[in-house]
Amino acid sequence: MVLLNISDVDISYGKRLIVKNCNLTLEKGEICSIVGESGSGKTTVIRAVLGLLARGGKVTAGDIVYEGRSLLTLNDKEWRALRGHDISMIFQDSGAMMNQTRRTGDSYVEYIRTHESIFTKDAWAKGVEMLGRMHLPDPDRIMRSYPFQLSGGQRQRVGIAMGMTYQPRLLLADEPTSALDVTTQAQIVRQMLELRDEYGTSIIIVTHDIGVASYMADKLVVMKDGVIEDQGDRDHILHETDNAYTRKLMEAVPSLGGKRYV
Ligand SMILES: Nc1ncnc2c1ncn2[C@@H]1O[C@H](COP(=O)(O)OP(=O)(O)OP(=O)(O)O)[C@@H](O)[C@H]1O
Ligand SMILES: [Mg+2]
Repeated sequence: MVLLNISDVDISYGKRLIVKNCNLTLEKGEICSIVGESGSGKTTVIRAVLGLLARGGKVTAGDIVYEGRSLLTLNDKEWRALRGHDISMIFQDSGAMMNQTRRTGDSYVEYIRTHESIFTKDAWAKGVEMLGRMHLPDPDRIMRSYPFQLSGGQRQRVGIAMGMTYQPRLLLADEPTSALDVTTQAQIVRQMLELRDEYGTSIIIVTHDIGVASYMADKLVVMKDGVIEDQGDRDHILHETDNAYTRKLMEAVPSLGGKRYV
């Protein structure tokens, strides 16, 4: 079953055409990795899906259809219902996105209370439960801590926990592991896979790490200069593609946690 269909999409910033004729389909429960060099348009594509392009950014052609409904025509109210609930995003450094002057738990409670009417006490308990599911030790202490009192990996897992609170049907992750050491990277990769297996969440993960991409993904998408240069099943892209650019990109597969992924 198709969950998301991006068809013939162009995206511009101001007058500058950045992403050209993007076509990408994501099935329910499927994990897709977008790889490609810096500036190739990876972040732009997933931000467009969430209706969160930076100022001046606009989808100028094509359509983005989620569960049979165009995302390009949603109003603010419809977005509020969908974003953070059905469709969530994890950013490269969730820690930096968090309010540094408030305890993690207070931010988490506020997030929960924008999505459901629930007592503060119950929202707090829900936050603790989600942090526990992320295998964060001592979730109570983490809720009572300020972001600067947590490690980068802990903050990132708090961000992932928040993104998963409502078991989104679609998770968009932009370099979720880049800021982390390899051990934490491997944990987070495993957690994202677990979420897919448990909840059937579809995931688009943007990463410059081919190791992470190929380990997680069912489908690989290679971007270059705003164009999807190559895409297909993981094994096809890794081992069989005729595309010279992809082959060059795949030549140097990095290792993660001491293990090679492919
Ligand atoms: N807010 C913006 N205003 C104008 N141009 C932008 C803006 N954000 C990105 N761009 C341009 O769009 C192009 C694609 O950027 P994008 O951030 O999507 O690349 P990326 O593939 O995510 O790169 P990276 O791997 O470095 O994160 C770049 O040429 C960039 O300069
Ligand atoms: Mg980016």
